[in-house]
Amino acid sequence: MTDTTFTNHQNPTFLQACLRQATPHTPVWLMRQAGRYLPEYLATRVKAGNSFMGLATNVDYATEVTLQPLDRFPLDAAILFSDILTIPDAMGLGLSFGVGEGPRFASPVRDETAVDKLAVPDLDKLRYVFDAVSSIRKALTQADGKSRVPLIGFSGSPWTLACYMVEGAGSSDYRLVKTMLYSRPDLMHRILATNADSVAAYLNAQIEAGAQAVMIFDSWGGVLADGAFQDFSLAYTARVLAQLKTSHTDANGNTIRIPRIVFTKGGGLWLQEMAALDCDVLGLDWTVNLGKARAAIGGEEYAPGVSGPGKALQGNIDPNVLFAQPAQIEAEVARVLDSFGTPYQGAGTGPSHIFNLGHGISQYTPPENVAALVDAVHRHSRASRGLQALRA
Ligand code: CP3
Repeated sequence: MTDTTFTNHQNPTFLQACLRQATPHTPVWLMRQAGRYLPEYLATRVKAGNSFMGLATNVDYATEVTLQPLDRFPLDAAILFSDILTIPDAMGLGLSFGVGEGPRFASPVRDETAVDKLAVPDLDKLRYVFDAVSSIRKALTQADGKSRVPLIGFSGSPWTLACYMVEGAGSSDYRLVKTMLYSRPDLMHRILATNADSVAAYLNAQIEAGAQAVMIFDSWGGVLADGAFQDFSLAYTARVLAQLKTSHTDANGNTIRIPRIVFTKGGGLWLQEMAALDCDVLGLDWTVNLGKARAAIGGEEYAPGVSGPGKALQGNIDPNVLFAQPAQIEAEVARVLDSFGTPYQGAGTGPSHIFNLGHGISQYTPPENVAALVDAVHRHSRASRGLQALRA
């Protein structure tokens, strides 16, 4: 039997909301919650030779920075400290991060010869990631044996990884990767198939190491044309999901469900198609109206033991709201929560919401504004549940 009661968790709200179960408040975590907006992150990075990969490849540092945002804010989930570009690095493309620059690959994949050389990497090259997952899980386990908050593992989507692999760096126009897509779709499909199988193996290994949910970041799915998105992004995200473990039996013999989250930035136009994915949660950016998304794909209420279609929704406040004053942040938080409406509160399953940003947090964000946001999500979502219970 798969345990979906989460008795070994101090705070299971995130996992419950992923599975469309009722929660006392709307759980919140933030994409890129560990990072440069925190002075303690910058201090640890200096210890690691001022290098991002120095942090990510050292188990102790990766654990330390994963926990930093949790020690400051009462967030409801932790996310592994790593990067989506670890896979192409392990494929031999030579990842580096210049100081003050984005990521760069020494050997981008631009022609058939380079595509011929691509293969699912030896997972031993990514051992540092799986070791970090185990170490973070241990650090999140309390004296009573319960998890403080769940740990999310993650990967890039096959298409988003391909963007970096072909461009060799971040891009503003995606010219090189789209040139290949339109002129040599056969090569693009070969890259995406290899990426999908690599991502599936990588996420399954994170689950084996202790990740309690997994998220696929399709950060650049939204730059594709209608039609191209379905063929070159969605189809390969589906290929990943088809290979993913949906449950895991831990060392104590407990079998737990592993929720799967798919986030497509700019994916709002394709919600109906994404709702057909075999995943539990869809992440949305700030262009989407949560109430409309709930009506379209959030599913019905089902009695205990009954199941049917419907996705939990994650998102979607504009990260730039965090540059306003706390009172304005609180008002915007309330707008986002109210646009979703009160989540299902019964004993079965129904529409549920996980609060997050619509994309990653900016490095210029004042940390005290993050405290205001997290507090507002908890307070306002608790209060609106109470009001609904009073009216019922
Ligand atoms: O959310 C977390 O706290 C976990 C850590 C995490 C990082 N990257 C750490 C990181 C996660 C989930 C990612 C995902 C990631 N990486 C994505 C998908 C999410 C998204 O934002 O769309 C993408 C596209 C990348 C690729 C990447 N890595 C870029 C473009 C950059 C440079 C941009 C920047 O912000 O500087 C990175 C580097 C990176 N990854 C940093 C961090 C904290 C900054 C590195 C530093 O310390 O200098």
